[in-house]
Amino acid sequence: MNTSLITNIKNSFITKFESEPIMIFSPGRINIIGEHTDYNDGFVFPAAVDKGIVAGVQKSDSNTSSAYAADKDETIEFSLNNLKPLAKGSWQNYILGVVAEIQNRSKTIGNFNIAFGGDIPGGAGMSSSAALENSVVFGLNELFNLGLSKHDMILISQKAEHNYVGVKCGIMDQYASMFGIENNALLLDCRTVQSKPFEIDFKDHELILINTNVKHSLSDSAYNDRRSVCESVAEMLNVKALRDATEFDLESIKDRVTPENYQKALYVIQENDRAVRASKAMQQGDLETLGKLIYASHDGLQNQYKVSCEELDFLVAQAKLNENILGARMMGGGFGGCTINLISKTETESFKTFVSKAYKNEFNKECSIYSIKLSDGTHLIK
Ligand code: GLA
Repeated sequence: MNTSLITNIKNSFITKFESEPIMIFSPGRINIIGEHTDYNDGFVFPAAVDKGIVAGVQKSDSNTSSAYAADKDETIEFSLNNLKPLAKGSWQNYILGVVAEIQNRSKTIGNFNIAFGGDIPGGAGMSSSAALENSVVFGLNELFNLGLSKHDMILISQKAEHNYVGVKCGIMDQYASMFGIENNALLLDCRTVQSKPFEIDFKDHELILINTNVKHSLSDSAYNDRRSVCESVAEMLNVKALRDATEFDLESIKDRVTPENYQKALYVIQENDRAVRASKAMQQGDLETLGKLIYASHDGLQNQYKVSCEELDFLVAQAKLNENILGARMMGGGFGGCTINLISKTETESFKTFVSKAYKNEFNKECSIYSIKLSDGTHLIK
């Protein structure tokens, strides 16, 4: 964990609010495979990482509550009554949303102060937003003894994102951030919201992330559009979610959906299958197969589901040129953020140099490269 970040946030809290906070770490996540399958009740394969949000929280005697975003040096003060999303809010709405969703569950909290900061860049597709939501709900649950289970907490975080941020996200990010296990990835069934941990040891291979450092602005509306396409195709098929459909089923309504929507639904059905196959490949230590599934996932995201962008496609194309990279794909919602790459450890350094130069030449901007450590989920920092 980032100890200087913890010290900074704790000190900021003490300076600003003149009391001693409880400290929480809430991680971001990666996702090995299973993209845009979560809101289709399908399978995903995420893991919490050692980067995320650090928050200090404490009760307050004042008649308002305050939140301080240390990275932006911005503060918001609010009353716990009549909460509403801010029209021009960004980070503020995650916090207000969590508070409002706690209240919607008839839980009572008093005024509080929170200060937070993080070490994953927003827009990297590593779920800094879920990490923030989880840190707030986790902190308030501790402070006010709300008796919420981890499952309750992630549903509150998810609802905050639906109702206060306006992204109809699935449950993957909040789940991975809350339930992460050190050195493990979680094969999560998003219907039952139960997961199976897989210890990750790729021996002479590792996972690295390459951040395009772009986030194209259409991402939220495109996300919600994709979700409603999936729901409408599921309805036509008379199933609860696309998770319940096969390619054969989809074929039977082919003449009733547009070719674009047909491809999107087909992508989801295939990606769900890939996530399950990837877990089997991993169990057998078959990294070649895992890598092929990862490349196929990108191909589907790019050409069928259409949530990639030229920067992500470029990075994956560069990876494909290198036989020591078994698989690479865009990760998260899309339209920017990171690619995840399964690479031979001996190749990592030279590929980093190569791809950084190539990216700079192509787009005249820098990409950032992260190695990752899989970590525990949201917890109190003692
Ligand atoms: C975002 C959402 C998740 C998931 C991914 C795509 O990260 O928050 O719920 O849908 O996109 O897999």
